Amino acid sequence: MRVLSDLFKNNQAWAAEITKRDPEFFQRLSKQQAPQYLWIGCSDSRMPANQIVGLAPGEMFVHRNVANVVVHTDLNCLAVIQFAVDVLHVQHIIVCGHYGCGGVLAALRGEKLGLIDNWLRHVQDSRERHGALLDSLKTETERHDRLCELNVVEQVVHVSRTTIVQDAWTRGQALSVHGWIYELRDGLLRDLDICITRPNEIAPLYQSAVTRLKGK
Ligand code: CO
Repeated sequence: MRVLSDLFKNNQAWAAEITKRDPEFFQRLSKQQAPQYLWIGCSDSRMPANQIVGLAPGEMFVHRNVANVVVHTDLNCLAVIQFAVDVLHVQHIIVCGHYGCGGVLAALRGEKLGLIDNWLRHVQDSRERHGALLDSLKTETERHDRLCELNVVEQVVHVSRTTIVQDAWTRGQALSVHGWIYELRDGLLRDLDICITRPNEIAPLYQSAVTRLKGK
């Protein structure tokens, strides 16, 4: 191996450690995955999905992109949601943002970073939707924290409004959409108290989540 041999060494040690504890682990997992959760998180290297919630391989289906954005026409994200809901029958979709998100900060500042500006435009739309709330805050740190939280709340609504989730609810499939945020400084998750389990909860729970964030 010419390059990145450390990573292959790490991989061998990791697989050996798991096999030592559970000799059948990989054999079993290679035949089937049955995760209960779909995680939609930020690509940030400090947010390793499974590790944060202590789940083993096989226990969580994962989609990550810059600033954990769910766009109605993003075929990549929609395909992940559809496979997770219709084929794997996950019971929970977790949208998890994080404080200190560089993507959210770039959107807040209106920075010019290149192609990604178009992606972050969706976060800027949220910034404008909640302009009055954000403008009432004194420091950029506060505005940044709040926009990280608001962005999660907006994306929870986007997930809940996809045809995939709407159709699942119409079929009577049990499916909850959660909004969480991760604090890099202590490694802990905060629940943003927006957990949507049926269509008529979207509007009132969105409203109460935003009101709570206003009063923070
Ligand atoms: Co981020």
